[in-house]
Formats: sequence, structure tokens, C-alpha cells
Amino acid sequence: MKDLLGLKDLSAAEITEILSVAADMKKLLLKREKSDCLKNKNVVTLFYENSTRTRTSFEAAAKALSATTASISASTSSIQKGETLLDTGRTLKALNTDAIIMRHSMGGAPRLLAENVDVSVINAGDGMNEHPTQALLDFLTMQEVFGSFEGLRVLIVGDAKHSRVVRSNIWGLNKLGAKVTVCGPSTLLPVELEKMGCKVTCDLDGALDGQDVVMGLRLQLERQSSGLIPGGEYHDFFGITEERLKRAAKNAVIMHPGPINRGYELSGGAADCEESKILAQVTNGIAVRMAVLYLLIGRK
Ligand code: CP
Repeated sequence: MKDLLGLKDLSAAEITEILSVAADMKKLLLKREKSDCLKNKNVVTLFYENSTRTRTSFEAAAKALSATTASISASTSSIQKGETLLDTGRTLKALNTDAIIMRHSMGGAPRLLAENVDVSVINAGDGMNEHPTQALLDFLTMQEVFGSFEGLRVLIVGDAKHSRVVRSNIWGLNKLGAKVTVCGPSTLLPVELEKMGCKVTCDLDGALDGQDVVMGLRLQLERQSSGLIPGGEYHDFFGITEERLKRAAKNAVIMHPGPINRGYELSGGAADCEESKILAQVTNGIAVRMAVLYLLIGRK
């Protein structure tokens, strides 16, 4: 495979293989050992939107495998002078780039680049479409806690309408055998979710019963047109709190892709409690991204 554009495109076996390699990569990471499997490879992060976790962890992953890295932000590059996406991609190819890790506000932009430039393209989040490596790091975190996905009950709460994370999670978790429920205000629950094969509800307290994983989603205020949710009431109806979590399964964990809007999606207590895996997710992001880079451009 040349590119990683989304989990919709992958089989359960391919997802399982990435998770298996990521588990091995995590052992290297925890020992702070480097591998030279990407020696002489050049990796570029090309971000048209802001990021802390994804960009930093891709750079850490590439460096841990001995690749050279360069970082391009739309706001400080020749994109500001009118250079097109494909011209930027071809320019990076001419600069001996092996992989472009790309985030863009338009769904489908990484696919356009992948289909037109002979470089590996990794989707680091495209509009409301997919964020495959986020879902893969979520799966590695779930696998570490629960061992397997068959019958795992996963509740995803919040702004599903604007979330690429929810779409990648649903595509992947369904293939792995988990049971996914999505909960949020009706204005933020698009009709396509049920067709993707998950349960949809606006009743958070009812939905929490017996869940193994409770994942909050960020309210994507930058993508929302006005009037989708009333301000202060969101947390009352859809905020995940320690009190509400008592309804979930005994060993349930809390997850969130970050960044968190504290006091909206999660209370501070829920974000920081013992059951929270939010920082473990961030660390697992490096291991998963090492695995993806290795499988796409490192494997002989
Ligand atoms: N979860 C995630 O994509 O975070 P960043 O926007 O910080 O990369």
C-alpha cells in the first residue's frame, strides 16, 4: 500500500497488522531506543490546519525510526503566495520526499494528492472525513486495556457531525467487532451514522449503561455554523462527569482525542480521573505513527 487515507479503505486484518506492529514499536519507544529502518528516508508534515498532538507525534515517530523530517505550515509557506496543493506536492517530491503527512480542512484533499503525486501520503485529518491514525491510536489504547475488540461496547459522545475522529472510529471498530453507540444533541448527529452501522441516541444517561469505553469528542466550534447547540446547557446534557460514569461498566475507561474543552465535553474530574486514558492515547500516537511510517515506506 502506498498511502493511508482512511480506515474505510482497510480490512480488519490490515488494521490488526498495524496494531501489532505498533505494539512492537511501543516497546522501542518505552526503552527510548531508536531504529534505523527509515534511515535515508525524508518525511514532511504538511499542515493546513493547527495541530499539537498529531504533528508532534508524527515528527517524534519519524525521528525514532531515523528519518529526516521537515515541517510545512500553510500559514508560513508558499501556499500563501497561491501555490496549489498539487504543485506543493510535486515540489516536495522533487525535494526527495518519501512521505507527506497531510492535514487539510477539505475532506478528500489527501486523496487528491495521493492520486496525483508519486509519494506516500498519510492523512493526518481531512475536514469532516477521516483521521485514521487517531482512530488507530484509540484502538491500540483499547487493546492494551481490554485485549480484544469482539463485543467491546464503545460509546462516543459529542459533536459527531463535524468529527473526522468519529468516522474513522466507526469504520474501524465495526470491522474489528466492537459495538459502537454515538450520542449527542440531535443537531450534531448526522443521518449517515446509522447507515455506517452504529446505534445513535440523544439520551446520554441511558447510553452510558454498561459501556466499556466512553469517548468524548471535541465541540468543533471552528466548523459549526451558529445555533447548533445552546451554550451553557451542553455540559448539563452531554458532559461526561465522574458521577455519570458510574453508569458505565465496572472497568470502563474514558478517552478523548484532544484537545479537550474542559467543562464542556468532560468535567475536569472526569478528564483527570484514574480511568482516564487521554494521556496514554497521546503516547500511543507515537507508536502507531511509527508503525504506519514503517509499513508504508520502511518495509523492504
Ligand atoms: N487529536 C488531534 O488530532 O489533536 P491535534 O489537533 O492536536 O493534532
